Amino acid sequence: MSDFSPDWLALREDLDRRSRAPNLLRRLHGRFGSADRTAVCDLGAGSGALLRALAPYLAERQEWTLLDRSAENLDAARQALTHWAGRAVETDAGLALVREGRRFQVCLRRCDLSTDLNAVSAEADLVAATALFDLAAPAWIAALVALLAGRRQTLYAALTYRGGLLAEPEHPLDGAVAAAFEVHQRSDKGLGGIAAGPEAQQLLSRMLRAAGAAVEEADSTRHVTRSEAALLKRELEGHAGAAAETGLLPPSAVSAWLQTRLAGTRRLSIGHGDLLASWPKAAQVAAQVEAA
Ligand SMILES: C[S@@+](CC[C@H](N)C(=O)[O-])C[C@H]1O[C@@H](n2cnc3c(N)ncnc32)[C@H](O)[C@@H]1O
Repeated sequence: MSDFSPDWLALREDLDRRSRAPNLLRRLHGRFGSADRTAVCDLGAGSGALLRALAPYLAERQEWTLLDRSAENLDAARQALTHWAGRAVETDAGLALVREGRRFQVCLRRCDLSTDLNAVSAEADLVAATALFDLAAPAWIAALVALLAGRRQTLYAALTYRGGLLAEPEHPLDGAVAAAFEVHQRSDKGLGGIAAGPEAQQLLSRMLRAAGAAVEEADSTRHVTRSEAALLKRELEGHAGAAAETGLLPPSAVSAWLQTRLAGTRRLSIGHGDLLASWPKAAQVAAQVEAA
């Protein structure tokens, strides 16, 4: 199981926003920006960072359903969104917010997505998730793809961990720590069993294409520098902690790696990817079949 505390989510929010692939954000804007309203369902919403990041790209009226199993994170989302908008009105449906001319209706719902895929709103124009798919087991990803295909819902999956750790300056144990970290990523993270980890994005993309979706992918590698010292420290400690837990490296080696890295790392790059999937219209499918 994993721990995603509100302070960790807050620490990474700016970097995550900067790392999102801009071409996919432009696509989302092209698709939803001029609609009357956009309904979005955010899976594993944490403290609501995706709403804050996507708000300018979607319609002026937005209806968000934030799903998360952590009551603490949903409380943090309520507070962070209220702070972001300046004020919030509690309604029967959740929170009503206004910011920069846009109106938001936000429903915060606690659920365990590993057992409750029905919680994914059937009315959502866009199903979205950030930093979630690498936690999911292949069977869970397959079940979600089947659900989306049946409903022809667009999917935006951002910042899925893809593996690869590049740090400057290099350290002889970088490769071994990164390999142990990836082993840890392929353990049970509470979303349907042993997580796909660094293979998640490839798997998701393949399953979506096989189900008939048009899929676009883009790099969203997260680059952390010394100027974000607290975040850099947290990322390095996270890597060291996970690598040590696997037992694949002597604890003293991991500890020495961490101490050197904390003292002198200038830049850390962690491979991530974004994906946008949509379903061709029936007429397009008929034309494709005819042309084949
Ligand atoms: C890496 S955090 C990402 C949070 C948020 N999307 C963001 O980018 O800031 C993963 C989130 O998924 C939630 N989560 C993990 N497993 C879940 C499950 N089985 N059901 C619902 N939420 C889950 C966690 O509580 C956490 O808030």
